[in-house]
Amino acid sequence: MSQPNPHQQIQVDTSDDDSLFETKSCVGSNLSFASSVRDYCYENGRRYHAYRHGQYPFPNDEEEQDRLALVHQLFKLISGGDLYRAPIRPRDEPQEQTPLPRRILDIGTGTAEWALEIAEDFPTAEIIGTDLSPIQPNWAPPNCRFYIDDAESDWTFAPGEAFDYIHARSLNGGIGDWPRLLRQSFQHLRPGGWVEIQEFETLLTSDDNTHQHAPAVMEWLERLNVASKQFGKQINIATHIRPWMEAEGFANVTDDIYKCPIGGWAKDRRLKEIGRLGKLTVMEVVEPYTLALFTRVLGFTFQEAQEHMEKVRAELMNTKIHLYVLFHFIYGQRPVDETNGSSSDTPT
Ligand SMILES: C[S@@+](CC[C@H](N)C(=O)[O-])C[C@H]1O[C@@H](n2cnc3c(N)ncnc32)[C@H](O)[C@@H]1O
Repeated sequence: MSQPNPHQQIQVDTSDDDSLFETKSCVGSNLSFASSVRDYCYENGRRYHAYRHGQYPFPNDEEEQDRLALVHQLFKLISGGDLYRAPIRPRDEPQEQTPLPRRILDIGTGTAEWALEIAEDFPTAEIIGTDLSPIQPNWAPPNCRFYIDDAESDWTFAPGEAFDYIHARSLNGGIGDWPRLLRQSFQHLRPGGWVEIQEFETLLTSDDNTHQHAPAVMEWLERLNVASKQFGKQINIATHIRPWMEAEGFANVTDDIYKCPIGGWAKDRRLKEIGRLGKLTVMEVVEPYTLALFTRVLGFTFQEAQEHMEKVRAELMNTKIHLYVLFHFIYGQRPVDETNGSSSDTPT
């Protein structure tokens, strides 16, 4: 397991400009839904979800699915290979003494890479993944099922179907009311169960002020954050999750924060590897994040959005700029003893 490092000053590798790795772009059933959810919508050359069309401003096409695969690897590299940080299987106790999770929910499961791996890790648990888009694989292990659902609707799980662990990763931009989502999670956890939200900040900065040489990137992020708020589903929510969880009555709330370099500029070999993948994922996220929010919300033409994106990509290619982004793994527990009170109802 790798330890959080939010205060570490990452040393810059001055010996290597990393040019070989500074690539510009990346290489290119248990499913339950009505066929109409596959009537996808197309806009500016990208494909978007049909169910509750317009609710989620990022695409769901193959390009996006390739990006999700990269982001999955990045989260795992950062956490040292772990899929979760909540103590759902305490590592210092023999497994026999630890009740293993029996029911796990993955909200906004996407291509379900996380769900499929957790299903392997916990073969005796039932894993349920939900998403607006039916982009999950047709094949999944018998302990893993997927449903098309909007996590912002009232959850229909029966009281007897409480979860031991609820997980959501990279759901930023898809939720308008996070406190309500956390409240529903609380209500559908068994007492003692955990919720875990894994998110990166949509903020790039540096410790040596080189981010000031990336004005187009800074402007891009500022505009994205403004547009997402205007759209009603803020993307830069990572730092808010902890206080939101605490306000909903979760106990033992922890926010493990990791610095992720963008580019192979770090001297440390592990951080260099993380940075190379980090850069690839940022390059790949420029278009999906930008297109709908800039054209639908900010009124950019497709051409204007393209021009802005080109400037952003050019700055991201500058190896003299030592950007990093903070990744948050925030987890909290539904109290076992709720007599001390919580703000949430307890229907389980
Ligand atoms: C960036 S992807 C992340 C996918 C997956 N969690 C992962 O980490 O690989 C976000 C996913 O959340 C889904 N999503 C966004 N808003 C949602 C909502 N309100 N209800 C259900 N799914 C949602 C999107 O369709 C998309 O598949």
